[in-house]
Order: sequence, then structure tokens, then C-alpha cells
Amino acid sequence: MIDDRLSIESMADPDLVKRRLSVWLRGESAFGLRSVAVDWKAIQDLQAAKRPAAASNAAAAPKPSPRSLFAPTEELDLPAEPQAAAFTQPVASRPEKAAMLAQMDGDQVKPCEHCRLCKTRKNTVFGEGDPDAGIFFVGEGPGENEDLQGRPFVGRAGELLNKMIAGMGLRREQVYIANIVKCRPPDNRVPAPDEVEACTPFLVRQLEIVRPKVIVTLGLPASKYMLASRLSMGKLRGQWHNWRGIKLMPTYHPAYLLRSYTEENRAAVWSDLKKVMAEVGLPIPGKSAR
Ligand code: URA
Repeated sequence: MIDDRLSIESMADPDLVKRRLSVWLRGESAFGLRSVAVDWKAIQDLQAAKRPAAASNAAAAPKPSPRSLFAPTEELDLPAEPQAAAFTQPVASRPEKAAMLAQMDGDQVKPCEHCRLCKTRKNTVFGEGDPDAGIFFVGEGPGENEDLQGRPFVGRAGELLNKMIAGMGLRREQVYIANIVKCRPPDNRVPAPDEVEACTPFLVRQLEIVRPKVIVTLGLPASKYMLASRLSMGKLRGQWHNWRGIKLMPTYHPAYLLRSYTEENRAAVWSDLKKVMAEVGLPIPGKSAR
């Protein structure tokens, strides 16, 4: 939809782009049009090609990235930015990680009364797995079985998650599994924003300790929290995102997959997991090694 007045060439100047697009966007919305297809990649390439000349001008202000010109909207569908700086603490050894996690669980999570969920829980569900795992799955929150056993993903959704992990050529003990909230929301409702806010510092700390290579968020609540995004699962999944310097792949929640066990949904999850496998260097079935 870039017409000749807004050619790629002219868009290499962000100020010009901003002025022209704001006029143009007003026009678009006046016609009830919501989306603007802009070839950001071409613009970025062009800006990069022009940069040496700009660099010789010491007074030149740094050019804003195309994303910063506009508030992020669903329509532009750009990947979310990291929510905070990458972790800088040195990575601990596996025994140190195990000790730190166990201490956090015992001292902080088990006795936690930061939100109303502590009143109805039977057990806290800290999370489990290899403290040194390369892949960290993040779910939504404990259900009934998890609340009873104090372990994540041990019900029907857990059985499917185990199959997904097995499909990746791994055992459950080789990954790490946790949730955005550590206590069961009554009737398995979605955790409320204040509950997520109260609980997620624990998850962030777990991620800081484990420092996985890849995070896989399962379902919308976990993906939305991690990416501070308003996008739908259909738009988020299948693409790499960045969370504090760690690659993050959102995919459908196994409970959703159980409810909508279509070939399309299963193929989508498998495709997401294959991207994760490639990223961590796991062999992908059907792909010959080079
Ligand atoms: N669903 C989740 O999101 N987490 C669990 O631990 C179990 C089911």
C-alpha cells in the first residue's frame, strides 16, 4: 500500500516518513482502513545503507528505529521488545542453581501470602525440572491436580505436554516447567492481573537462575504476560520474540490443544516446537544432519 508519494526511497528519512505517514494515516482511518502495510525491512536496509554518510555528520541526531515512530499497534504486528534489560548476573553451576531454586521455594513461595490465592490453595506449585535446562516452559497456573500434588502440569494437559516434550526427543526431567502463578486460581479461572503481578517476580527469578536458552510460553496468559502484548495467540505464536535477551517462542497451551484437537492446531504446535529444537541444537525428525 505504499504509493509513489511514499516510496521506499523517500522513507529512508524518518522525519519525512513520520510527517507523510501521519497525514496518510489520518486519510486511511477516515476511510475506515485500519492497517498500513509498510515494508520495514526494506526501509531498515535502506537506512543502514545510508548510515555511513550520516555518521560523518557529527551533529546528526540518532535516527529513531521505524518502530519508535509510532505507538505499537495490533495492525503493525511487530514483535514485542524485551521488557527489561538482559540479565547480567553470571550464570551459576547446576548445583548452585538447584540450591537457589530450592531455597526460593522453601523460604518464599511455600509460605507466600502475597495475594488472595493463598487462601484457597492446597499446595503451592513452584515448578520443576532440570535447574540447568536449555528449554523453560511457562504455563498459566496450577489446576486441580497440580494444586493437590504441588507439581506443575500433572493433569491431562500435563500428559499432552509430556508428549510434546517426548516428541522433541527429551524427557520431562530435561526441561524446566513453571507457571506465571504458583497457586491455583479457584475454578481454574484465568489469574487476575493483581495475582499475576504479585506472583511473577518468582518466575522472573526462576528464569534468572535457570537462564535457559529458550522460553516456550504455553497459551495466551503466559505469552501476554511475558511479552506485555495485546496480540492474539494466533499472531504471537510461531515467531521468535525476545525476553530479556532470551529467545521466546509462544505456542498453544496443551489444554487448548485438547479442546481443539485439530490437525491444523497440532501442526502449528509441532512447527513451533521444531523451531525451538533447531534453536537448541536438537535433531529434527525427517531432517538429515549436515
Ligand atoms: N495448566 C497450566 O497452565 N499449568 C499447569 O501447571 C497445569 C495446567
